[in-house]
Amino acid sequence: MITVVGSINMDLVVKTDNFPKQGETTLGTLYTTVPGGKGANQAVAAARLGSAVQMIGAVGQDAFGTELLAGLKNEGVLIDQVKRTDGTSGIANILLSEGDNRIIVVPGANHSVTTEEIDALADQLVKSELVIMQLEMPISVVQRTLEICHQNGVPSILNPAPASGFTTEMLPFCTYLTPNETEAEEIFGENWEKALEEFSNRLVVTLGQKGAQFYDGEKHVLVEGFPANVVDTTGAGDTFNGALATALVEEKEFEWAVRFANAAASLSVEKFGAQGGMPERTAVLERMAGDRI
Ligand code: RIB
Ligand code: NA
Repeated sequence: MITVVGSINMDLVVKTDNFPKQGETTLGTLYTTVPGGKGANQAVAAARLGSAVQMIGAVGQDAFGTELLAGLKNEGVLIDQVKRTDGTSGIANILLSEGDNRIIVVPGANHSVTTEEIDALADQLVKSELVIMQLEMPISVVQRTLEICHQNGVPSILNPAPASGFTTEMLPFCTYLTPNETEAEEIFGENWEKALEEFSNRLVVTLGQKGAQFYDGEKHVLVEGFPANVVDTTGAGDTFNGALATALVEEKEFEWAVRFANAAASLSVEKFGAQGGMPERTAVLERMAGDRI
């Protein structure tokens, strides 16, 4: 079982031909709501690839909360440990324009999760094969979860997004760290490639369409990405993490796991919405085998 401790958001997506400048009003071409949140996205990505997944987090008592829980359940993600709290569910206000996106996240219920609640769920963490986290939860909750995993030998993936929440205290506790290039720079500075050498087979930097990079103990490995017909890149990183977790739980070789994650991410960007293009296993294996779009 993979446990995801993380955010559950409703994504309020607005498409426009022009981002408004300050004081300006522009017309949008589409408005829709789709389930998102980095944690929920990672959970759905892993579940679609065949992993058993449970989610720890929170949604509000609002209509979005009901819809988000139903969505997760429908994907086969266990939601027994998702609490419903007073107030609103987390939302992400996503502006899309020509492949570019601008996102404002309002954490809402996600930030109601406490370290006491994590302590009370320690047995759920300890019995997990792997735990995934991101930084859309209170930092204290992430830190506590990492500590419990570390103390009990449970492997963990920390996706340090958004990187502003990252603290170096987290580093010794997580098994795997998966920043994108910007986050890697924010955490390790411009010389992040050097950091790869310090955390061999643990630190993977995702490079968008270029793929992902890590150090295998002897050399730097660039695992090339797969060409894709990009429609919407929202959630690509989350798909990468969910897929990586799936492959690692299956004890796949590290480089293979990263390639699998790259292939899954490349498929995810071909459809609208964070969870829209998240693939099933067959599609990923086909892409890995070289079948092109
Ligand atoms: O990583 C993409 C996700 O970030 C979106 O689904 C949005 O909810 C934000 O949390
Ligand atoms: Na997508």
